[in-house]
Order: sequence, then C-alpha cells, then structure tokens
Amino acid sequence: MNKKVILSTVLPLCLLISFAQVKVQHLLTENSTNPIGLGVQQPRFTWQLMSDKRNTKQTAYEIKVSGNKGTMWKTGKVGSDQSVQVVYAGTSLQSDNKYTWTIRVWDNDGKASAWSETAFFETGFLNTSDWKAKWIEAGFTEDSINRPAILFRHQFNASKKIKSANLYITAHGMYEVQLNGKRVGDAYLTPGWTSYNKRLQYQVFDVTRTLISGNNAIGATVGNGWYRGYLAWSDNKNIYGKKLGLLAQINIVYSDGSTEIIVTDEKWKSANSAIKSVEIYNGERYDARDEKSGWSSAGYNDAAWKGVNLLSTDFDNLTATENEPVKKHETFKPIKLITTPSGEKVLDFGQNLVGWVVVKAKGNAGDKIVIKHAEVLDKAGNFYTENLRAAKATATYILKGGAEEIFEPHFTFFGFRYIKLENYPGEINPDNFTAVTLYSDMKPTGTFTTSNALINQLQHNIQWGQRGNFLDVPTDCPQRDERLGWTGDAQAFSRTATFNFGVDNFFSKWLKDVAADQEPNGSVPFVVPNVLGHNAGGSAGWADVATIIPWNMYLAYGDKKVLETQYPSMKAWVKYMTNASKNDLWNTGFHFGDWLFYRPNDDNDGRAAVTDKYLIAQCFYAHSVQLLINTAKVLNNSADEAMYTDLLQKIKAAFLKEYVTPSGRLVSGTQTAYVLALNFDMLPEGLRAQAATRLADNVKSYDNHLTTGFLGTPYLCEVLTRFGFTDVAYTLLLQQDYPSWLYPVKMGATTIWERWDGQKPDSTFQTPGMNSFNHYAYGAIGDWMYRKMVGLDTYEDGVGYKHIKIQPHIGGGFTNASASLQTYYGTVVAGWKVEANGISLDAEIPANTTATIYIPASNATLITEGGKAISGVADIKITGTEDGDVVLQVGSGKYHFVVNK
Ligand code: BGC
Repeated sequence: MNKKVILSTVLPLCLLISFAQVKVQHLLTENSTNPIGLGVQQPRFTWQLMSDKRNTKQTAYEIKVSGNKGTMWKTGKVGSDQSVQVVYAGTSLQSDNKYTWTIRVWDNDGKASAWSETAFFETGFLNTSDWKAKWIEAGFTEDSINRPAILFRHQFNASKKIKSANLYITAHGMYEVQLNGKRVGDAYLTPGWTSYNKRLQYQVFDVTRTLISGNNAIGATVGNGWYRGYLAWSDNKNIYGKKLGLLAQINIVYSDGSTEIIVTDEKWKSANSAIKSVEIYNGERYDARDEKSGWSSAGYNDAAWKGVNLLSTDFDNLTATENEPVKKHETFKPIKLITTPSGEKVLDFGQNLVGWVVVKAKGNAGDKIVIKHAEVLDKAGNFYTENLRAAKATATYILKGGAEEIFEPHFTFFGFRYIKLENYPGEINPDNFTAVTLYSDMKPTGTFTTSNALINQLQHNIQWGQRGNFLDVPTDCPQRDERLGWTGDAQAFSRTATFNFGVDNFFSKWLKDVAADQEPNGSVPFVVPNVLGHNAGGSAGWADVATIIPWNMYLAYGDKKVLETQYPSMKAWVKYMTNASKNDLWNTGFHFGDWLFYRPNDDNDGRAAVTDKYLIAQCFYAHSVQLLINTAKVLNNSADEAMYTDLLQKIKAAFLKEYVTPSGRLVSGTQTAYVLALNFDMLPEGLRAQAATRLADNVKSYDNHLTTGFLGTPYLCEVLTRFGFTDVAYTLLLQQDYPSWLYPVKMGATTIWERWDGQKPDSTFQTPGMNSFNHYAYGAIGDWMYRKMVGLDTYEDGVGYKHIKIQPHIGGGFTNASASLQTYYGTVVAGWKVEANGISLDAEIPANTTATIYIPASNATLITEGGKAISGVADIKITGTEDGDVVLQVGSGKYHFVVNK
C-alpha cells in the first residue's frame, strides 16, 4: 500500500473514531453563559451533548466545581440522563466569589466524553450583611419642577496591584455609571423594574480592567425612571419614593491577597447634570452647555459640588439580578427623508421599534434640536402622535457648539418608526441619524418560515412585537403613557414568546413580582409591578397569569424551580377565586372580559361578539385549577392534587348548570365562548364534537373571520385543529380583511397591532384613546404556527423538549413551512415541503432527547428516510398509525423523510 492510499483510508477512519465520541458544550449556569452576580446558593447547571451519531443519549455525568479554596463539589459518576438544570449540591458558596466547573458524560454506548471546557459563575451578595455601602441622596434641594438627573462622584485610591474588582450597584431611579471616564457595562435602564419596595435588583460589573493602581474616580448619573417618574395616568408619580438615590460598592482584591472596599458614603459629592429633565413617557431634555467634562475621572475639580445626604434604610429588599438586562440591539438607518404635506421634516426608519435615535449634529451653542417620535403617518401622510395620548415622547438637545456633537437620551425610551425633526442645524443628512433598539437581552431562539410572504411578515411582526415589549418587564405597549406590565397580555403571549426568544429568566424574575404584588387575599393586579393601587386586580384571564406563565415556563424549559417558587402564588390566586365563588360558581367582581373582541361600527344586526364575562371567569377558574393539579403532580404533592381534582369537578359541574343548555349550546354563542369551553375541557366528552362544529360554523357565519379578543384569540386555531378543523384554522390565518392577522400586514404593519383595525381600510385610525401599533397580544397565533402548522412541540412527559413531538399540519395551500428552536438540549428543526410527487419532511433532534414524529401517510411503506424504506432504517421505530399519520419513534440525529404519492 502506498502512502497516499494509507492516508486516504486510515485518516477518515481516525476522524470517524474521534467524531464518534460524544462532546459536551454550551455550559450554562442558571440558564446563562458564565454569569456574574448570581444570587442563589444552589445554581443549576445545564450542558449540551454533541454527536454526529444518531440516537445519542447520556447515561451518566460527572461534574467538578472548584473555588479559590479548591474543590467545592465532585459528583463522581452519576447514572442519570439529566443534562438540564442539575442542581448544585456541594459545599456552601461564598458571596462575591468565582467558581469554575467542568463536566463529562457517558453516552449510551458506555463511552465517556472528554472533560468539557471550564465554565464559570460568580456569586453576588448572598447575605444583606455583605452590603457595607450606604444609600446616598443629593446633598442639595432638588429642582422639584424639572427634576433633572443627578450626578454622584467619588475619587479614591487603589493602593496596590489589582487582581480583581467587582462593582455592586443599584439606585432609587435609573442609573448609568462610569469609572475613570468610561461607561461601565452595556446594560441600559438599570436597575430594571421590579416591585421596588419588596424587590430591588442590584447589578454586578467586573471592573478589574477599568480600575487602576493609584487614583480612580467613579461617577453615576441617576434619573427618575420607574422609581419616581410619571407612570400610568392622572399625574401619578413618586410611586416608590420622592428622592433619587444611589447605592454602590466596589469589592477589590489585590494581587497580594488583601482586599479593600469602596462604598457610597458621606465622602461622595453630588451635582445636577446636563440632563435637565427626563421621564419615561415624555423623553429627555439635555443641555450640552452644562456638561461637566471629566467629572467621572480622577483629578476633576469638584469643589463646587455639594456633599450627599445619607439615607438610613435596610437592605432587605435588595436582590440579585435574575434576568438579562436591557441592552442595545439592532440599529436602523433612515430609509427615507420625508417632507410631509404639512411641511414637517420626517425620517422613516422602516421598522416600528423601541429604543431611541443617536443623532450627530454641528451647530452653535444654544441651538436646540427637537425630536418627536411616532409609529405611523396619518391618512394625509402627516406625522401622527395622537395615539401616544399624554406621552410627549420628545428628545431635546441643546448644543454646546463647535465640533460635531453626538446625542442619545438616557433614562427613557420611545416606540416609533418615524421621527420629526425641528430646528436641526444645517441640512438634514440621514446618515447622521441611527435608530437603536433597546430590549431585554434575551437570546434569539426560534425561526419560522413558510412559502407565503405575508405569513413570514406576520412572523416578523410577532418577533418585533416581542422585542419592543420585553423591556425588563413584559409591557402592553411601548409608546403611549402606559407601558405597563399588563398581566392579561403577558399570559396570552407567553407560550409564543418561548419560541422566539429565551424568556426563562425574564419570566422567572417577573413572576416573583407577580407574587410580591399579589394582595393578601390572593388577588393578582392588572399590572405588575402594580402601579394602579390595591383595588386594581382579580380580573379573569389577567390574574390567571399567576398559574399560566409558570406552567408555560415548565413546559418550554423543563424549569421545575419556577413551579416550586410560584406554587404559593398559584394557590393563593385559586383560593381567591374559590372565596369569591358561591356554589363553585365564580360570578362576581370586575372583569375585562374578551378585551377588544369584534365590534362592527353599525351593529343593527347584533353581530358584536359579546361573551358573558362570568362565563369567561368560570373557564379561567377551571383552567387555573387544572394547572394547579398538574403542578401538584410535578411537585409530588398528592394531597393537593386530590383536593384540586375534586374542586375542578365541581367547577365544571357548576359551569354546565349555569352556562350550557341540555343540548349543548352555550349561553354566549361566540367564538370565544366555544374556544374557552373546548380548550379548557369544560364540556363532557359527548358534547365536544358538536360544540366544535358550532365554533367552525360561527367562523363561517362571519364570512370566515375571527371575532375573538385577547382571551379567545390565543386558543382559537388550537381548538380548531384539535377538533379536526385545521382547514378552518388556515382560512382564518390567511384571511386578509379585517378582522384578521393578515389585515395589518396588508396595511404595511411591521409589528402586531393592539386592535384588529388600528388603521381602517380608508387609512383613518381607530380611536386615539387606545390604538397602539405595537401590542404583542394578538401575536399569540405564533404558538399555533410553531406547534401546529410546522408541528414542533414538546410532550408533557418530557418537558423542555426532552421528548419532542413533531406533528405537522399541512394545508392552506402552503408549499413549505419550517421552524427551528434552540432548546436547552440543542437545536430542534422541523419542516415540511409539498413536492410534485409527494411530500418531504425534515427533522433534527438534539442529542439526549427523543422524538415522536407523525408522518402524513396512510401506511409506512410509502415513506422513505434518507432514500431507504423506513422499515429498513435501524434508528426508526414504527409504532402505529393515527388519524392518517404514521407514527415513528426516533432518537437524536437528522432525518429526511419522503412520502411518495
Ligand atoms: C392595555 C392592555 C390591557 C388592557 C386591559 C389596555 O390599556 O393596553 O393591553 O390588557 O388595557 O384593560
């Protein structure tokens, strides 16, 4: 054998052997890559197995965790297939410490992987006594009218060589912090929004590289933010407090092992900033002439600054940051400079987005640029801001003059596609304007594409609705004087949200505020954090956020901890409904009902789709109890499971007695009534099929249109598919006239609208009092698109996509539809294509998971995989047929199926 032959045969063999070994990658601690500032004693570890071999599973793992004092945890070989959220059980973790970990696994051939690369995590302050800093406030009387942002600064000496340094910081208000003249970190609108009185998050930044041995200076700007800015309506301000404040602490470790702590205390200085006023709804006014150049650097002369006042307050409400902070993401350049019919200068960024515009300008000192924000132009093509209601949404910059200046606002954000410029000095060059998006730094996880461009645009709009409204809390809208954590909207959209972005930490954090703001009687507020007062809660479909989102997080991420943590809150909400019920019927109290359901202008014929609010309440009551039964089961609480099972039977019996005629008609004949009754199994088996037929007939009676509002819409297509009316679901999905999902798309929408008819066919608008063009609730159809149309789902016996379900529903004239989802196990892909002589299906199943795949074929002999009859493919088990599908069981790997006609 010559050398060439040896190389060409032996080399691939070696490669094959080395590839055949399973690898471990993508190590996550508390669902993040190398997080710092963790506030938990028992972080959870997740890893992914990589293998190019089909049917790879983990049979055992071994984890090693080390700290600066050596080994913290050595599991030894643990026989287990768990690779997601394995709970740390080693030696007690210490505050403000760095730990590293590494993992190896054994696969189902008994082969061990190599040890993974090491990952790390750093703990935050695990005890309130770790805080040595004191809260400081301005040492002068604040301007109570304009309420400018305040600067705090402090110069200090770091005497020795620095090994590591972490900055711990939070504020009463929103803060931005600089060290030695440089912005620290890339988080915005910090400390984020929580129910501050009970839970105020602090952030931790690694400042090792910014600190120097010698003189340093730290400076923080603090503005009103959610803490004391205007929120909601009727001049509602100072919700959490009247004064801005700062709490900061730098923990330094020197190379010689000694430590030093720098804290906010009486030695700090304070002054007014160039941010003359700033409010979330109204925007910012900035006067560059008042900039204090060098204020956050050592050596700056702060003799004219005032001292600070100390605030004696305990640290009990302080908590580590759990979710991803708000960061800058996509940027947009103007696609058009428009002079409107009324002569306004308007820039169009082509996308309705949330964030702000970075502006470059050159002019004279005192020149004042005014920038207004709008989502839409009106019928005539003029700038339209009426739907922002009282929100001024304006950025004003006063130039200091001379060289080119660059501006962006700080403690505010805007929902806009267009900006109107007033007094811009010189010619308007679109190049000088960049729109920057701001939203929680969730990881993009999902893709969805089809052969239909309008549906692809709908998916785009759903994702942009999520980007714009996942801004530390799930908001209803980002532009008008509202932007609140409306609970109904959030629960309606939550399952869809899990497909597009990683929202596990986002919702875990917010759910803690749901629990924190729950009333002692269990009532859940309309908005969380609650800024509407104590009597604003308990509405069916809104308050059920307390049960619905924890369960959705468990399904999507296999996150059992969220169920454990929220269980008392879930139970309290159900208790509230039980207490408000008589004979198991919940028919009291205020309810929003099926918010924004179909209401024709001229309703002589009684076509408005009004659903009895108490019928809705009874359905959600049952649903919440069902979710408690499910949760009790997961948490092995059999006593609760039995108790709630019993309660559920009574609730359903009361529903039947009150709202269903003996022949199975509901007292409200609307789509939403049938959808809820069917989706939540309110009807006995025997009455379901005919109820589903009534629903389908109802859709037809509206000339194939939906009539549902916030509560019916999320489950409408879901129920139609479940009862065999996928064709009707497709008709609704593809409907282009109002009300429908595609009507806004046809009208040029780039986000989901609040109302089905935000802009009418004649281009006039719905009432400005409530007409947001960026409201994610109706985007809840995304769930059906992923889970039913493409058919990418998880089983409840293997949540978090441990046991994947792929069951496509081909139809609607689409020639292809596919989706991908990054799960904790790895990427799942599903997609179908209608071809000339049959259909093809692609699936990708990550290692350490299994899938059940439904192939639309009358029998298995019609199906090939990778060009071979499936009966001959070793990795595929044919387990039966069901409703026209052949059912297969597979392990991990990539599969290409063809069904021949
Ligand atoms: C919000 C909502 C919310 C609704 C409840 C509106 O102002 O924008 O989306 O769910 O009020 O009434």
